[in-house]
Amino acid sequence: MADSLSLVVLISGRGSNLGSLIAACTSGQINGRITHVISNVPTAGGLALAEDAGIPTSVVDHTRFESREAFDQTLNATIRKKPTDIVVLAGFMRILTEQFVRSWQPRMINIHPSLLPLYPGLNTHQRAIDNGDAHAGASVHFVTPQLDGGPVIVQSRVDIEANDTAVTLARRVLTGEHVIFTLALEWICSGRVVCHNNSVMLDGNPIRTPPCIYREQLLPDGIDHG
Ligand code: GAR
Repeated sequence: MADSLSLVVLISGRGSNLGSLIAACTSGQINGRITHVISNVPTAGGLALAEDAGIPTSVVDHTRFESREAFDQTLNATIRKKPTDIVVLAGFMRILTEQFVRSWQPRMINIHPSLLPLYPGLNTHQRAIDNGDAHAGASVHFVTPQLDGGPVIVQSRVDIEANDTAVTLARRVLTGEHVIFTLALEWICSGRVVCHNNSVMLDGNPIRTPPCIYREQLLPDGIDHG
């Protein structure tokens, strides 16, 4: 088996995605090690999850910096203190500068709670409900300088129910997030997924429509043919 990859995970909050990644690295589903967890929020719940798992943590508090550039420089220096293969944005709620993104491209991935390219940015679930959409979901993608605009590796989809609120919908989407984030990192760490010329390659073939988990099935091209 290839050497395990070293993963640095950036968080801003409770860290449920981080928790599922820790479990998948421990079980061996992901051939990787989380070597460092960094939060921009000192009170982020995910820091305790990392500490309980024996993973070193750092805080780079964005409120202490005068500019986005200064914050990103310190963040990047903090990441680069340790050898790092992949930077994983797991609920990291800061927009990163183009310079930072370019310095990691294509070795940085993000999870976003919508079926990209729909609803980049914030309030994704409310926007899907307000639009009368039949489905909502989440996407894991390689990060490019365009906000939530990089090539998508895998998605998860749920039905929007008539009585859904943004809170109930977010809860169901989150369950799928944990599955697809783990799957994306399993594929990357085993070499099945690479990003080449801004395209995702899975098993050597370019992904045109991302694979998608829907009703606990992996639809290879994301389309429900049933
Ligand atoms: C997740 O829903 C993730 O998709 C979202 O933040 C939440 C973090 O939850 N990320 C974004 O909105 C990024 N734009 P967690 O801290 O429990 O993993």
